[in-house]
Amino acid sequence: MNARTTRTLAVALSLTAALAISGCSGESGGSEPKMTVSGAFMPQPVNDKMAGGFLVVKNGSGAADKLTGATSPLSDDLQIHETKDQKMQQVQSMDVPANGELRLERGGNHIMFMGLKSTPKVGDKVTVELRFEKAGPVKVELDVKDRTYNAQAPTSTAGNGH
Ligand code: CU
Repeated sequence: MNARTTRTLAVALSLTAALAISGCSGESGGSEPKMTVSGAFMPQPVNDKMAGGFLVVKNGSGAADKLTGATSPLSDDLQIHETKDQKMQQVQSMDVPANGELRLERGGNHIMFMGLKSTPKVGDKVTVELRFEKAGPVKVELDVKDRTYNAQAPTSTAGNGH
């Protein structure tokens, strides 16, 4: 509300920008893409036949990569599915653009767990290891949520089922 607050804010913002820039140079790990995952969840499965997993993968590097698969103690058969014309189909990989993100969300791309070894309930956690073409494996915990849960506010009318 006053000049000092505004200046402090400006300093804080420029500091954040500087950190972000240095964070992108990624000298430590050579050219290997660095992946961060957020908003990971699984709607409580209806039965032990299948379940869907949703999350956002952020690529913090300038190197494009691909999600090529996933493994989990919950199922020996994890697939990556895309949804086209409201029908899902298995794909071999999904692009994770350089300095971009791959969104697995309801009504669209998702991880499909086939033949569950148990039926997780709301509040449980499901461990998944994501595999990439270039980046090392990334371990993620999916929070099991209510069946109607959605991580983001819906951006379109699509989004029934998974
Ligand atoms: Cu599917």
